[in-house]
Amino acid sequence: MVSLATSTFSRNLFPRPSLPYVVRALGTTLLQLHPKPTSWGPLSSSWKSCSAHFSASSFNLSKSQNETLGSQDDLVVLGIETSCDDTAAAIVRSNGDILSQVVSSQVVQDALENANLTERDLSAVAVTIGPGLSLCLRVGVQKARKIAGSHNLPIVGVHHMEAHALVARLIEKDLQFPFMALLISGGHNLLILARDLGHYIQLGTTIDDAIGEAYDKTAKWLGLDLRRSGGPAIEELAREGDAKAVKFSTPMKQHKDCNFSYAGLKTQVRLAIESRNINAEIPISSASSEDRSSRADIAASFQRVAVLHLEERCERAIEWALKIEPSIKHLVVSGGVASNQYVRAQLDQVVKKKSLQLVCPPPSLCTDNGVMVAWTGLEHFRMGRYDPPPPANEPEDYVYDLRPRWPLGEEYSEGRSEARSLRTARIHPSLTSLIQASMQQQS
Ligand code: KG4
Ligand code: ZN
Repeated sequence: MVSLATSTFSRNLFPRPSLPYVVRALGTTLLQLHPKPTSWGPLSSSWKSCSAHFSASSFNLSKSQNETLGSQDDLVVLGIETSCDDTAAAIVRSNGDILSQVVSSQVVQDALENANLTERDLSAVAVTIGPGLSLCLRVGVQKARKIAGSHNLPIVGVHHMEAHALVARLIEKDLQFPFMALLISGGHNLLILARDLGHYIQLGTTIDDAIGEAYDKTAKWLGLDLRRSGGPAIEELAREGDAKAVKFSTPMKQHKDCNFSYAGLKTQVRLAIESRNINAEIPISSASSEDRSSRADIAASFQRVAVLHLEERCERAIEWALKIEPSIKHLVVSGGVASNQYVRAQLDQVVKKKSLQLVCPPPSLCTDNGVMVAWTGLEHFRMGRYDPPPPANEPEDYVYDLRPRWPLGEEYSEGRSEARSLRTARIHPSLTSLIQASMQQQS
């Protein structure tokens, strides 16, 4: 059974959206365009402050934009992603063509130039509004609102983890809802059931660290080259090692749920490194061959157990998900750690055993990127879920609606772990509950 705690939760914490959604019968109208904006993800200080300039009449799209909205086959969305250290931007067409993709400084201008487009060619701007560090999110939202404001473009606020999952639908055109997703990155470890666009059930999450964090720390303690982040360095070194050399125990064996824990495994790795007198100050490139092989054994043993934990949880999650939605055919694996070949191979075995199909975006679309944000923006935009263009001259000190802690969906009630003491303070109502509340208001 799915927890129903949200409606109370969102009503208590968050004023209700002021403008009714125009979205009806989600699912049956997936490709149907709605010409009016919905109170989708108001990128302003609150729903209330939004209502002032949130009437359909005040939202005047230019002629060319209206034409674009009419011809749903040819939408072009600029996506901006800054939930972590880097900024990425991309331009994606509704048929899935990636027109350009750029990372780091000068992103937006480069993305437009590489696509041979100007802002006038865009249908909308999409930007990550959470979860992530406020400081980083603000950079992207500020940029997005500036562009949208000065070119009278609608704006779509995107959930970073939803974007990791939905980019799989750009790659695999046959990927229909419902499907399952394992999202594994530096900050998140999520198992979800995607029932429909914007409708997710959370089957499991991490009670402490995410797997990417464990890869990064292990790489640092082993003195690896961290220029490309720790994950790829561990993956490479692990190929030389014996994965059975060090006996690490698999996390949460006694908890028969789908949650994750990587803090304990991190400690086991640190102790193993200390007991073998491995000195991280000596880079692996300067280590003796004996030292190198001892480091490789730790990398391989860590990776085996870290991934075994994913395998065990996925197997159970598939059983749970099939009880809720027996028609599920796919497991999407995405997020930075999904670029790992060993992770893919192991999960492929699990999925095959359950007669499902694995869908993994290519590595460049698994790690944070602008394409996933543009694509997710596009998916919501064509459902009519977007905000009107912000005013052209928004004050610098404008308070944006950023959502640093923003769940994707409600927890599957059987999946609640006693091992979790979830801090609920300052958690934003989930994406799913916001969309459902607006749809109820509309009906
Ligand atoms: O999704 P992502 O790019 O950013 C976050 O949202 O966190 O994920 C970054 C994480 C880092 O922890 C990085 O070490 C990990 O993904 N990662 C990998 C690999 N490539 C990136 N982990 C294991 N193997 C890889 N090949
Ligand atoms: Zn990410």
